[in-house]
Amino acid sequence: NYINSSSYTWQTPSNIALVKYWGKSNPQIPKNASISFTLNNCHTITTIDFTKKEKSQSVDFDLFFEGKQKDEFKPKIAEFFNRIQEYCPYIFHYKMTINSENSFPHSSGIASSASGLSAIAMCLMSLEQELVAGLTSEYIAKKASFLARLGSGSASRSIEGPLVVWGKHPEIDGSSDLFGVKFSEKVHPIFSNYQDVILLVDKGEKQVSSTVGHNLMHNHPFAENRFQQANENLTKMSKILQNGDIKSFINLVESEALTLHAMMLTSNPYFILMKPNTLEIINKIWQFRETTNSNICFTLDAGANVHVLFPENEKNDVLNFIENELSKFCQKNHYICDYTGLGAQKI
Ligand code: PMV
Repeated sequence: NYINSSSYTWQTPSNIALVKYWGKSNPQIPKNASISFTLNNCHTITTIDFTKKEKSQSVDFDLFFEGKQKDEFKPKIAEFFNRIQEYCPYIFHYKMTINSENSFPHSSGIASSASGLSAIAMCLMSLEQELVAGLTSEYIAKKASFLARLGSGSASRSIEGPLVVWGKHPEIDGSSDLFGVKFSEKVHPIFSNYQDVILLVDKGEKQVSSTVGHNLMHNHPFAENRFQQANENLTKMSKILQNGDIKSFINLVESEALTLHAMMLTSNPYFILMKPNTLEIINKIWQFRETTNSNICFTLDAGANVHVLFPENEKNDVLNFIENELSKFCQKNHYICDYTGLGAQKI
């Protein structure tokens, strides 16, 4: 029984990987397991209005981004609907109007695919919940992550929080290549409300799309070693998160970031995704750590921006340091203060 019309709004966050996912096989199956902090302030808010229509062969939707119709974003979303239609056949019965906005500035270099696709997935699950009685919240989170994964791999880690593992791993109970699962071990308090300040070094378009990037791992000379290393690093990270060994955390997180970039430096075609200011910032962070007792460290996504991670109790000192010493390396001195969050929220 299809309802005539319905509307749902979800706020879903971005995430930052500690152990990185880079390399996949079809359909969106990761070559190694990854783990990320779910963020709080960097999020997407999406409303989908569903209006019943006669069943048709094609998926029918309009897309608005920050109030403006955005036909240029449609192909990516259309491809997403194509991939998920067999799991959500009800979408053929509705005209969908999608309204989306991000909390972070457009073209800030922050990937919006994780938050954007997980928000659409949650809206679909709200509709499914209304159409099918008795779905459990566990089923909804799993399936939302499963659907989001089919849009963008890392989006599978944006449904729950504060730590999510995606990818089958022998030491993570319930882990799967098909969806993200909440890291369920008891996490040391030093990692609670962990801070992430995102330094916007380069707000430009991504130099390498993640699709191209993942594909470069197919004939990559170091691929197999990298996948094995990432899985081993996840074992180490799981222990670190439980025992609070912050020095090992710093070492592992920074090594993962540099290894991600090393994969791009050593692929063919090759890419340098850091900018001079990325390196300036990294050196300043290392100096600050050497000259103070700080536990700050950095991580990177597939771009030039730097995520500065640190425990909550260092907030005052580190924010001063960022404002005084690092903001000058950001475009228009722009940075975003964030911290770990709990995942998708219904609005
Ligand atoms: O989700 P995708 O396909 O855009 O891949 C993103 C991968 C990285 O952000 C570079 C690393 C990660 O694990 O999030």
